[in-house]
Amino acid sequence: MAKDKTQFSCSECGGSSPKWLGKCPHCGAWNTLQEVRAESATAHRFQSLSGAQPVATLSEIVATELPRTPTGQEELDRTLGGGIVPGGVVLIGGDPGIGKSTLLLQAADSLSKQLPVLYITGEESGAQVALRARRLGLDGRQVRVLAEIQLEKILFALQTEGPAFCVIDSIQTLYSEALTSAPGSVAQVRECAAQLTRHAKSAGTSLVLVGHVTKDGALAGPRVLEHIVDTVLYFEGDTHSSFRLVRAIKNRFGAVNEIGVFAMTEKGLKGVANPSAIFLSTHGTPVPGSCVLVTLEGTRPLLVEVQALVDNGGPSPRRLSVGLERDRLAMLLAVLHRHAGVSCMDQDVFVNAVGGVRISEPAADLAVLLAIQGSLRGKALPRGFVAFGEVGLAGEVRPAPRGQERLKEAAKLGFSVAVVPKANAPKKAIEGLTIHAVERIEEAIEAVRSLA
Ligand code: TYD
Ligand code: MG
Repeated sequence: MAKDKTQFSCSECGGSSPKWLGKCPHCGAWNTLQEVRAESATAHRFQSLSGAQPVATLSEIVATELPRTPTGQEELDRTLGGGIVPGGVVLIGGDPGIGKSTLLLQAADSLSKQLPVLYITGEESGAQVALRARRLGLDGRQVRVLAEIQLEKILFALQTEGPAFCVIDSIQTLYSEALTSAPGSVAQVRECAAQLTRHAKSAGTSLVLVGHVTKDGALAGPRVLEHIVDTVLYFEGDTHSSFRLVRAIKNRFGAVNEIGVFAMTEKGLKGVANPSAIFLSTHGTPVPGSCVLVTLEGTRPLLVEVQALVDNGGPSPRRLSVGLERDRLAMLLAVLHRHAGVSCMDQDVFVNAVGGVRISEPAADLAVLLAIQGSLRGKALPRGFVAFGEVGLAGEVRPAPRGQERLKEAAKLGFSVAVVPKANAPKKAIEGLTIHAVERIEEAIEAVRSLA
């Protein structure tokens, strides 16, 4: 079989070269040449447009709501925006062993009761998939399984089987004959994903690509896939705890930042309906250095405990954070020092978000500061205490979006005292919740002191 021509293209300047070189001959950048498939030049590029789509006015285009099929996993559907969409391509990333294959097999099994489903595995054999299905107690009789890693054969199988829902586990194991680079290389991953996506769109197949994540948290192949697909989901959570979060990073068919919460059990992943409970550790009596915050994940307020430990450090004290941004921590310590006169200069500061959750919103600032202050002073916050709010460099406490919802969720879960930004203070009292509205961090610290 004749191979298609390949060439090497520079990821910096886009220049091309017929063979691989360490240094780009055009811009001089090192190690930027990547193998790509050469586009065959067509002679009449602008003439054969007879079959092309005419240009239309937006109002003339009939926009039909796409039908969604629920996957049977309520938490997964939440992140997908209601279910799978014909022709929709989902990329699901996460560390090895976090539960991607498990979740997708469960979804495939329940979808197979209404749709033709194909599960393509490149990492495991068919027998291993069958064994897992049995262990999960899935019926799985209608799920078609193919153990294959060659793209051309997979495309052929997709054509002959015509599944409505197809899982590719994983995109990094696939290779196309047209390219000479190894499976998992950027060129292969991009080529395979692009071809599969094209097929999914034309055939109306709902496709899920599983992707592995590199050590620095990016999907292997510098995010090459994220713009090709419609939806990007990430698995989060540490493999030591049984809780897993699935977060939507991008979604052309729904809202982003929605999360689904699962617990890994012997029978696979089970949705958790009330996730706040798992991100709060259970202290009998309140302990110093712990503060609960209400964070907003998509449309869902979530109560998460932040813990801080401030301890005598050496000449170069450490600042470490798990689940929160470290740069933000350094900034908060500076604000705390400058505006509230609380110094952690010669102290090690460790901050952790309980339950392996990752919090990126600035509304966590106030709770982090109060936890640090509590640990430093050895004073616990009162029982049933929550806080949220962004802290600015000038020491001001800025409002967080959707404050009312956060407070209502806290009240629902039995919290009784809240320190919140002034602009988030509700006009009408919330039953069972005493609210201290503050404008500056000094006020917040003062409010906490008066409560103790
Ligand atoms: P898996 O879905 O294979 O992870 P990934 O595809 O993301 O690499 O999940 C594997 C882990 O989940 C493995 O460590 C065992 C655990 N597990 C359970 O705890 N219960 C189960 O029912 C299954 C199938 C797996
Ligand atoms: Mg797997």
